[in-house]
Amino acid sequence: MRAITQNRFGGPDVLETVEVPRPTPGPGEVLVRVTATSVNPADWKLRSGEVTRLGEPPFTLGFDVSGTVVEAVGDVTELRPGDQVFGMFLTRFGAYAEYVAVPANLLAIRPGRLDDADAAALPTAALTAWQALADLRAGQRILIHAAAGGVGHLAVQIAKARGAYVIGTARTVNHVFLRSLGADELIDYTVVDFAEAVHEVDVVLDLIGGDYGQRSLRTLRADGRYIDAQGSDAEGDPRYVRFYVTPSGTDAHELGNLAAQGKLRVDIARVMPLADVAEAHKLSESGRVRGKIVLTPWIAGV
Ligand SMILES: NC(=O)c1ccc[n+]([C@@H]2O[C@H](COP(=O)([O-])OP(=O)(O)OC[C@H]3O[C@@H](n4cnc5c(N)ncnc54)[C@H](OP(=O)(O)O)[C@@H]3O)[C@@H](O)[C@H]2O)c1
Repeated sequence: MRAITQNRFGGPDVLETVEVPRPTPGPGEVLVRVTATSVNPADWKLRSGEVTRLGEPPFTLGFDVSGTVVEAVGDVTELRPGDQVFGMFLTRFGAYAEYVAVPANLLAIRPGRLDDADAAALPTAALTAWQALADLRAGQRILIHAAAGGVGHLAVQIAKARGAYVIGTARTVNHVFLRSLGADELIDYTVVDFAEAVHEVDVVLDLIGGDYGQRSLRTLRADGRYIDAQGSDAEGDPRYVRFYVTPSGTDAHELGNLAAQGKLRVDIARVMPLADVAEAHKLSESGRVRGKIVLTPWIAGV
């Protein structure tokens, strides 16, 4: 099968297409034929070596998958060949490939009304927003940084559905879009200092990090919570919570149903062939993508 791999850390040019054997599913795993995957910022941070969680190359990126089960190992009873599935998984042999072996408990059946691209765009971004906002309550005021991004635009909708008052940071060009998703107030951070303009929030979801940490603390109530998904200078404050997403088939199932019912809308900026993954990484690294970039694998025989 074909897969994208890299033999060293570096820029998008280290990504190359190679022929490798199909993975063999282990206990509790299924083999999935990938029909779509998507780009997350973690991909280019791992590619470059900024994050070393996968260890040394070679490895294959791609933590989101939508596809078809082609083989289920003996002890897997919940999924069968032919099932359409999607989910998030963390591995050195990711979904920038024609086939992946994935723990069955991290996958959910893709609802019929959820299309393939949406199913590939959702998992990591939606699980992040869903889990980070698990304790958000009706009536609370939340500030979401990078509201227009993959995680942010889903967080806006989830926060709104929970009955929160939603304030987001985004450039003006994205304000109409974010209002259509339910945002109540938007700050163009290139024009206005959010730390001056926003007050008395109960929760900050920070998807930017760095000096957004201390600046966000100034907007937060004394008993508020600052949720850091990125790494910021607010660590040590009693209101600080470091957040990491957890892959979960159960959560994917719930989020897939919400999307299929039209209650959660994933915005897809581009659908690109996996062969153009280097260009997709450049776009994602620009920090300007609204929503998600979806990648589709090679068409059989091409
Ligand atoms: N800890 C975890 O478990 C976890 C999980 C998932 C993601 N993350 C991290 O969360 C971050 C966001 O992920 P993502 O997938 O949403 O990224 P993304 O889709 O690449 O975010 C792009 C968005 O960021 C916005 N943006 C860029 N600079 C900004 C700034 N200074 N202030 C406000 N908005 C800004 C842009 O909107 P404008 O064009 O409007 O500026 C753009 O739409 C990444 O660093 C990622 O690694 C962490």
